[in-house]
Amino acid sequence: MSNFHTIKGTHDLLPDECIIWRQVENSIHSIMQQSGYGEIRTPIFENTKLFERGIGTETDIVTKEMYSWIDQGGNQLTLKPELTAPVVRSYLQHKMGNNYPIHRLYYFDTLFRRERPQKGRQRQFYQFGAEAIGSANPEQDAEIIAQAYNIYQEFDIKNLNVRLNSIGSADIRPKYLDKLRSTIQSIKHELCKTCQERLKKNALRLFDCKNSNCQDLIDKHAPLIFDSISEDDHVHFDTITLILDEMGIPYIHDQKLVRGLDYYTHTTFEITSSVLGAQDALCGGGRYNGLIEQLGGKPTPAVGFAAGVERLILAIENQEKIPKNIDVYLIHMGDKVTPTAVKIANDVRKYCGKIVILETLRRSLKAQMREAGRSSAKITLILGEEELIEKIIIIKDMKTGHQEKVPLSELIQYINS
Ligand code: HAM
Repeated sequence: MSNFHTIKGTHDLLPDECIIWRQVENSIHSIMQQSGYGEIRTPIFENTKLFERGIGTETDIVTKEMYSWIDQGGNQLTLKPELTAPVVRSYLQHKMGNNYPIHRLYYFDTLFRRERPQKGRQRQFYQFGAEAIGSANPEQDAEIIAQAYNIYQEFDIKNLNVRLNSIGSADIRPKYLDKLRSTIQSIKHELCKTCQERLKKNALRLFDCKNSNCQDLIDKHAPLIFDSISEDDHVHFDTITLILDEMGIPYIHDQKLVRGLDYYTHTTFEITSSVLGAQDALCGGGRYNGLIEQLGGKPTPAVGFAAGVERLILAIENQEKIPKNIDVYLIHMGDKVTPTAVKIANDVRKYCGKIVILETLRRSLKAQMREAGRSSAKITLILGEEELIEKIIIIKDMKTGHQEKVPLSELIQYINS
């Protein structure tokens, strides 16, 4: 065994796992494109300041979880821990806003956060997500929520829960935060050290604390931001719920859902599923009307979501029942037969578009037959020296066990029929 192992919180994806990953990836691309979203790919590392300014200096991601370093040129760089800030950076850099009023972008990418690894939580993980940049209207929020929800329905994920809230526009924040700070001040000494810091620097983050004592205290004492949102914010929220009702998407209004990134305004949402266990958040997102301006652009409304791919795959039930998709297993016996067998495998791939596994270990007939059975191939082709002399090949239907002999010259036509 090698002395080298994957780094804590990272994992290899082996061929059997890649089958389902590839299927999930293909489905995500086609679902996103069906809704008019165009794929965007951004570099794996960015300027550290992009995340500090975008996500917020007092968030868990920026304070504890980023992989950052200074390169040989003195540049402060960070492996991307999320994709909304890089997508907005790209939107601004390429002046996308100048040529069209709305941009619908999606991604499937790998990210890095130095979190405590556990099931469904890695240090390198994948996300897919969508960002709709340009519309301030609630139908855009509803479309984004529906987009995420439909993906989970498409994969038949059970026990879905959509939690939804509004944290209002940025204008109401200072007044609300004053109220929150002054209420919590009296019980400050009962909170954990991190929450005491949060109270000073970014009080909204008090709602993110995982410590059960802090959660109880916050539940009991903290005023809810939803009670401070404006009349317009209410109308925006109510319209989203109306559209979700119209679409038959069930949701819960969770007034404590503020989300752990600073860029959110108005809508926040998460979709969870109890099939996942402790890390039950399949995806999260919301509106971020201030982020584009904060990163140097014109004020531009935007809304989006991102979803963990590992969590989606964990949630897909009966994964092992997903067929491996092998069409043909080609068994061959004898040195003289090998060149013809290799050519047949190639021709069947080329002219029939089939997935063909060719035996290359020169195992016994019995061992090859066993392997063909294990491979879940739909048919097995058997070519021995006798068959080669007679210019025929044996075709076995793996489901029925029926075997027949077909002239080699008619094989392609037979498979295609
Ligand atoms: P987030 O809630 O930080 O939001 O991440 C979104 C999803 O990524 C989570 O719900 C979870 O499924 C997955 N995830 C996060 N951390 C990990 C991890 N360590 N291991 C495995 N999966 C993980 C964002 O990233 C925002 N950018 C979402 C957004 C897009 N908001 C607006 N647009």
